Amino acid sequence: MSDKFKFPKDFLWGAATSSYQVEGGNSNADWWQWEKQGKADNESGLACDYWNRWKSDHDLLMELGVNSFRLGIEWARVEKADGVFDEEAIAHYREIFQDLKKRNIKTQVTLWWWTSPIWFQENYGFHKKESVEIFARYVKKITDELGDLIDVFMVLNEPMVPLGQGFLAKAFPPGYMNPFKFLRAVNNLSGAYKRSYEIIHKKYPDAQVGITYLYNWYESEGFGILLNSINRIAQWYRIDLFGNKIKGYQDFVGIHYYRLGKIRFNWRNVKMDSRNQIYMGFTIDENPENVMKWISYPEGIYKVLKQASGKFKLPILISENGVPTRAGIDDEERIEYLRSHLVFVHKAISEGIDVRGYNFWSLMDNLEWLYGYEPKFGLIEMDFKTLERKPRKSFYEYAKICKSNELEIEE
Ligand code: BGC
Repeated sequence: MSDKFKFPKDFLWGAATSSYQVEGGNSNADWWQWEKQGKADNESGLACDYWNRWKSDHDLLMELGVNSFRLGIEWARVEKADGVFDEEAIAHYREIFQDLKKRNIKTQVTLWWWTSPIWFQENYGFHKKESVEIFARYVKKITDELGDLIDVFMVLNEPMVPLGQGFLAKAFPPGYMNPFKFLRAVNNLSGAYKRSYEIIHKKYPDAQVGITYLYNWYESEGFGILLNSINRIAQWYRIDLFGNKIKGYQDFVGIHYYRLGKIRFNWRNVKMDSRNQIYMGFTIDENPENVMKWISYPEGIYKVLKQASGKFKLPILISENGVPTRAGIDDEERIEYLRSHLVFVHKAISEGIDVRGYNFWSLMDNLEWLYGYEPKFGLIEMDFKTLERKPRKSFYEYAKICKSNELEIEE
């Protein structure tokens, strides 16, 4: 016996990548410097060399059968110096987007995925108020030059992650641990986003404009007032702090769901060590078997979709969902993760939650920020020495789902 879970007509099936994590050679970006200073496990180098191999990667997208693709534009690549745009790089992105259009693949484009140009960090930074206009100038240029080829503008990717890591935890550039700078950066980046929303809508009134949120499911380990309020604070910090500032400026909400965060308190651990998930005494439980110690919890995606739909009252795009593994081609763990999460996505949709699309993270193994090339997130295995791509078993499983618009479950 098998059960078929049909998805809505026109559902967007996609895969996600980000510019810095796949393009390679982004030497004008602050992350490049960060890596050179030895602050990440690997230097990105050529990454997946998507910048040169995009055409054959788009062939793979066709084989996968997606009707949508999430990718990023690298600010440091297109604005080489303060106010100096690189027309060749913009034309290159134009070619990439045009190719996707030709193949009938919708483009979901992120304009800021955590990395900034080195000149921006040296002269400004998001804690300075000038950053709002500087960022808006970049967004205007992209809207004018490439906006006609962008179906969904996911302007910022999970802004609270780089803001927290970069201004409170010293783990990402610009490398501060300063709550005042942090709060100023939150204000400026949300302001920059609102300006971007207006700029894009001025030129394209019907554009779909929004941001993505890291929306994992949090629970407390044990009872206690402190732990329960900490869960609420985690929600407030990750979602509401930024989300409330941009109310009325979102046409959809982008949700990223990966895992369960079980929070516990240990007073012996009152320090800040975000790499080991220690936040002033609060730690997140770990799964020792997972390469990034993440706990998979399929039902969480359902809970998160319900919560987000109640909170935002906007259409939802699942802009990322995926699992880090150490797998080779035979990646049963990823298949199990994908299928079990989609069952819960389907449940949410069947209860009336307005989910318009799903992007698997990621199309291919790529640079996992601080953790470098060790965690494997891809439907496609990447040999980082030869840059050879090999679709994994999960690629073919996902292809079946994308092409049939349904998930078949054996009972
Ligand atoms: C980010 C990606 C990252 C992925 C896995 C998401 O939060 O948007 O850049 O690679 O998580 O950690």
